[in-house]
Amino acid sequence: QEADIGLIGLGVMGENLALNIADNGYTIAVYNRTADKVDAFLGNAGTLSDKVMGSGDLATFVKMLKRPRSVIVMVKAGEPVDAVIAQLKPLLEDGDVIIDAGNANYHDTVRRFSELDGTGIGFLGIGVSGGEEGARHGPSIMVGGSEAQWQNAEAVLTAISAKFDGEACCAYLGTGGAGHFVKTIHNGIEYADMQMIAEIYGVMRDGLGMSPEECAKVFADWNKGPLDSYLIEITHHVLAARDVGSDLPLVDVIVDAAGQKGTGRWSAIEALNLGITATTIEGAVAARSISSMKEERKRGEDLYGAGIKGNATISLEALEKALLAGKIAAYAQGFAVMAKASEENGWNLPLDTIAKIWRAGCIIRSRFLDQISQSFAGGTSSNLLTQPAFVDLMKDCNGSLRAVVATCAVNELPAPCLSSALAYFDAYRQARGTTNLTQGQRDFFGAHGFKRFDQDGDFHHKWPSLIGK
Ligand code: 6PG
Repeated sequence: QEADIGLIGLGVMGENLALNIADNGYTIAVYNRTADKVDAFLGNAGTLSDKVMGSGDLATFVKMLKRPRSVIVMVKAGEPVDAVIAQLKPLLEDGDVIIDAGNANYHDTVRRFSELDGTGIGFLGIGVSGGEEGARHGPSIMVGGSEAQWQNAEAVLTAISAKFDGEACCAYLGTGGAGHFVKTIHNGIEYADMQMIAEIYGVMRDGLGMSPEECAKVFADWNKGPLDSYLIEITHHVLAARDVGSDLPLVDVIVDAAGQKGTGRWSAIEALNLGITATTIEGAVAARSISSMKEERKRGEDLYGAGIKGNATISLEALEKALLAGKIAAYAQGFAVMAKASEENGWNLPLDTIAKIWRAGCIIRSRFLDQISQSFAGGTSSNLLTQPAFVDLMKDCNGSLRAVVATCAVNELPAPCLSSALAYFDAYRQARGTTNLTQGQRDFFGAHGFKRFDQDGDFHHKWPSLIGK
């Protein structure tokens, strides 16, 4: 018997993806650098044993695959992916395809395409979201590469993906690094979503003096309304959980220092390079960075004192609406980054399809994404803040965002992401900004020139010299 598809890398994500593939009726061969993992995987496959095979020897693994071969690579992003490709190359043939399913930096994906160009070996860069459970029961899959190669892998990737109202959360999005780029922005939005939730929790905990149990109940309620989403749902569970040993609320024993593996930071970098504002994502990345400076923050508190505790007067309804307004701003930014990247790279990214395949399976899945997909239907890529459904929502919610950000400022509570969202919104709707002054300054010190309201062309002012003054 030959396997329909192969998978390299039996970490939790790889293992679960392999089981998901077998569950969908495909025969899968697996390989892992440490051969014991292959034996353990095959030994634990249970009712799926007749659908799985594998080897701790790469050449033997490759021989198990049906031609043309498809090999999913699910190893740590970065150098390990290059190492696997280098080992696979001499074992593969014309028409075979390597599918990188990790969180690759899309620039690496673009480079790998060009390195494989002319070898006859195809490549797909796919973003897979949904964590361990998603990998096992249906992730959201964002595909980039050549359409011909996508067609070879389409059946299996579609079968294993999450479904929203019967529609597969898997789509071909564009050539080259398109899939990994979209996954990167997904993660950037994920960072912003998570950070804004953490900031609202901060207002509840420090401003309103609420216990984790009380906060948990509020998030459970919110999950029945417009904020209904996976991240709000798990926030409820995290806040409600108790530590097994101490029976304290679990959140109170978890150290407030967040890790980051890179995708959030890459989103912000890409946005900056494209000249598109993604301040909510930047705010979220910055919040993780400052969170990891725990000792320095302790010194800061000794020097300046902590924020004012228990003095805030803000309603839970305002917090809910503020979160919704912040979310709209973050998604507006994320989608604007993708629209610009699409233009620059000639990807023709279907924004409505991206919103659709994020409705289930992925970490940012939510009711809200269904509204976004409807707004982008028909191919428009204009900013979410100008889409009628979101204009109404934003009109309703921006006052609450303002009230919450003001509360944070007055009560000395940090809200980098929510305040960036508000600043973005206020800048976005200010037809007359203040960079006329910036332009004047630039012309003063560097003769950079400026435009005028009343005449066409580039102008300079004759500025006085300050030398000797
Ligand atoms: C997903 C997640 C997943 C992972 C990221 C973010 O979509 O399933 O985004 O890919 O959680 O790697 O990780 P960090 O928070 O560690 O950067």
